[in-house]
Amino acid sequence: MALSACSKSPSPASSPIGPAPTLNPAPGQNVVTKSLVAKPTTLDLGGVMVDTWAYGDAAPGPLLRATAGDMLRITLDNQLPEDTTIHWHGIRLRNVADGVPGQTQDPVRPGAAYTYEFTAPDPGTYFFHPHVGVQLDRGLYAPLIIDDPSEPGRYDAEWVVVLDDWIDGTGTTPDEVFTDLTGGQGAGMHHGNMGGMDHGSGGMAMSGKLPFGDAGDVVYPHYLINGRTPADPDVLRAKPGQRVRIRMINAGADTIFAVALGGHRMTVTATDGWAVEPVTTDALYIGMGERYDVEVTLGDGVFPLVAAPFGKAGRARALIRTGPGQAPAVDASLAELDGRVLFGTELRPTESSRLDPKDPDDHQMLHLAGQMQPYVWTINGKPFGKNSPLSLTRGTRTRLQMMNMTMMTHPMHLHGHTFALPNGLREDTVLIPPMRTIDVDFDADNPGDWMAHCHNIYHAEAGMMIALNYA
Ligand code: C2O
Ligand code: CU
Repeated sequence: MALSACSKSPSPASSPIGPAPTLNPAPGQNVVTKSLVAKPTTLDLGGVMVDTWAYGDAAPGPLLRATAGDMLRITLDNQLPEDTTIHWHGIRLRNVADGVPGQTQDPVRPGAAYTYEFTAPDPGTYFFHPHVGVQLDRGLYAPLIIDDPSEPGRYDAEWVVVLDDWIDGTGTTPDEVFTDLTGGQGAGMHHGNMGGMDHGSGGMAMSGKLPFGDAGDVVYPHYLINGRTPADPDVLRAKPGQRVRIRMINAGADTIFAVALGGHRMTVTATDGWAVEPVTTDALYIGMGERYDVEVTLGDGVFPLVAAPFGKAGRARALIRTGPGQAPAVDASLAELDGRVLFGTELRPTESSRLDPKDPDDHQMLHLAGQMQPYVWTINGKPFGKNSPLSLTRGTRTRLQMMNMTMMTHPMHLHGHTFALPNGLREDTVLIPPMRTIDVDFDADNPGDWMAHCHNIYHAEAGMMIALNYA
C-alpha cells in the first residue's frame, strides 16, 4: 500500500532484484551522461527559507536534456537519510530503468549510488521524481526535455515552467501530512495546514466551470513556479514580438492548476510530449503529472504568468519581462482566468501523433474508489499490494476502462507507455473527473512490470495504484 514496496512498512522479505543489466549504446548512438545528488538542503523560495530535500541545491533540480534516440546514463547518488529511486515520468523506457523499488529495482539505500541507463525514444516535455513514499512532495523533482532533432529554430526562445504545491520545511513534512490524513500518530497536530476534511465545497469555489469535484486533500501554504513564491518570483526574459515555447510541468502532489499569461493568449501545441492540433486559449488546466507545451508571441512590457490552484486559495506566479515597466501587483486578478479554461481532453491529436484507431484485443478495468475516513484509495476494490496485478498480453491493443467512482478528480498515469483517448490523443496522464469513465487504448509493446496510478501522490501512497505485467 506504499508507493514503494519498502518506504514505510518493513518490506515483506522481497527478494533482491539486483543491478540492472548494462545497456550498451547502439553504433553511433549518442550517450548523455550526468550525475545527480539527492540530498537535504536549505532553499530560498523567495523570502521563505526551508529545509528540504532536493536534487543538488535547487528545486526544481537541474534540467536534464537529450535528443530523441539518445541513451541516457544517469547516476543517482543518494545522500538522503532514506531509500530513494528515480522514475522518469512519461518516458517509454526499458522496464529495469523505471525506478519502482521492489518491482524494477532494489531501493537505493542512503549513501549508495545507482545508475539508470535507458534510451529516450520520443521528443517532448517530461520530468523525473522519486517513486518512494511521498518524497515527490518535497523538492525532489526536475524537468527532463527530449528534443526533436527535426525542429531546430522553430522558436525564438523557450522556457520551462514547473508548478508546485509546497509544504516541506514550512512546519510540516509531507510524511507528517500523510500521517495526519491516515489518522496515524501526530493526527491533529497540523490542522493549520490541512484542508482534508473540507470536502464537498472547495471544488467548485474557484471556477465552478468544470466538474472537478473536491479540490484535493491538502491545503498548502505556498504555490510555486520554478521554486519561487509570488513575493519574489522567477523572471523570464525575452524581446517583444518573440515567439516563445513554454514547457509547463505540474510537479505538484495534490493540486490541479489553471494557468494563464496576463495580456496574452496561449496556443497549446503538445500534451505529455505529443503534438496536438493547435488550440488558442486564455487559460488551461494542468493536472498533477501532466505537461503542456504552449507557444506565445510576446507583447512589450511586464506580464504575470499565473497558476491558480483549483479550489484552493493562493497563487503561483512568475513574471515575463520583455521591456521596462512595473510588475503587476501580486494579487491583481487576471481576466484570462475568468473565462473558459481549456481542459486537456478537448484537444485533438495531429495526423502524425494520433494512435491509429483499431479495435482493442484486450479489455482491462480500473475501478477507482476511496474515502477520507479512514483515508484509503483503491483500484479494483483494494489498495495497492492487495489488489491483483493486471495481466496483459504482449502485442495486443489494450483498452483500460478507467471508472472514477469518487467525488474527486484523479490524474491517472501509466508507466512505460503512452495511451490514447478515444479520439486518438496520446498522453501518459489524464484527469478523470468525478463519476466519469474514460477509456484509453495502448499497445502492449514494452514488456515488463509496470504501474498505473493516481498522480495525486497522497492517493497513490494510500493505495490508488495497480501493477500491469506482461512478458
Ligand atoms: Cu510520475 Cu509513477 O509517476
Ligand atoms: Cu487520486
